[in-house]
Amino acid sequence: MVSQAVEREGGNATLSEPAPRPLLAFREVCAGYGGADILHDVSFEVPEGGLTCVVGPNGAGKSTLLGTVSGIVRTRRGELLFRGEPLRKANPRDRLDRGIVQVPQNHSLFREMTVRENVELGGFVLRDRALVRQRYEQIAETMPVVAQRAKDKAGSLSGGQQRLIEFARCLMLDPVLVVLDEPSMGLDPRTRKTVFDTVRTLHKSGRTVLLVEQNARAGLRLATHGVVLENGRVRLEGSGREVLEHPEIGALFLGGEVPRNVGPSGGNDDA
Ligand SMILES: Nc1ncnc2c1ncn2[C@@H]1O[C@H](COP(=O)(O)OP(=O)(O)O)[C@@H](O)[C@H]1O
Ligand SMILES: [Mg+2]
Repeated sequence: MVSQAVEREGGNATLSEPAPRPLLAFREVCAGYGGADILHDVSFEVPEGGLTCVVGPNGAGKSTLLGTVSGIVRTRRGELLFRGEPLRKANPRDRLDRGIVQVPQNHSLFREMTVRENVELGGFVLRDRALVRQRYEQIAETMPVVAQRAKDKAGSLSGGQQRLIEFARCLMLDPVLVVLDEPSMGLDPRTRKTVFDTVRTLHKSGRTVLLVEQNARAGLRLATHGVVLENGRVRLEGSGREVLEHPEIGALFLGGEVPRNVGPSGGNDDA
C-alpha cells in the first residue's frame, strides 16, 4: 500500500484519503534564523489523537519545525493552526496554556533535585498545589521509575531513566499535544526501546504526539502518520507505514545498509 503516500513536487500535493480532523495544521509555514529561511512552505497536518513522526536528514529543519510549534521560532510567513485557530500571536506561555508541551532535549533535569521535585516542577505554571500533588500521584502510578526513584537525586539515574523523568515532568501539564525532539538520542538500543515504549504509551493514553526521530525506522513504526522533511521542505507524507515502505525513502533515509555518517541520512543508526 505504498501508492497512497503523497510525494511533494512543488508543495501542492494533497492526501489521497481524507485525514482525521487535524489538531495542528501547518499551512505554508516559512521560518528561520537571521536572514535565511530554513523552512520553506511547509504544509502538513497533525491528526488529533495520532502519533505523527517527522524524519529527515540532519539539518533538514526538524528542530526548527518543532520550534515553530512551541513558539521559540517565529513563523515568518504562512500559519500554524491549532484546533483551527492561528498560533502566530501566541507566545510560548500561551501555547503551554493551550496544552502544547515540548519535552526539552536531553539533560534538562536538575541533577541535585530529587526525581519527585523534578517531576513536580513540570507543574510550575499550575497555581493549585492540590492539583500538582494529584497529577504527580497519577503519573507515579503509571510510570514505575517515578515511584521507585522518587527520593533519589535525578543526577543519579541512568540516561534512559532521566529521559523517562523528562516525559513524566511534561505530563504534569496534562498536555493535549506532546512534542518530542529525538527522545532516543544517545541511548543504547535497550534503553531506546524503553523510551519508544513510553512514547507509545503516551499516545495510547489518548494524547496527540508530534515526534521527531533520527531513528527513522523505529519512529515510523510507532507512527500513525509520517512526514519526511528534506532541506526544509516536506518531501513525502502518508501513514507511518506508507512512508516506512516507500521504496525511495527507504533507500535514502532508512537503509540499513547505509554506512554511518555517509549518505543523505547523515548516519542512521537504526540498522
Ligand atoms: N539558533 C540557530 N541559529 C541559526 N541557525 C540555526 C539555529 N538552529 C539551527 N540552525 C540551522 O538551521 C538548519 C536546520 O537545523 P535544525 O532545525 O536543527 O535541523 P534538524 O533538527 O533537522 O537537524 C541548520 O542548517 C542549522 O545550522
Ligand atoms: Mg534537531
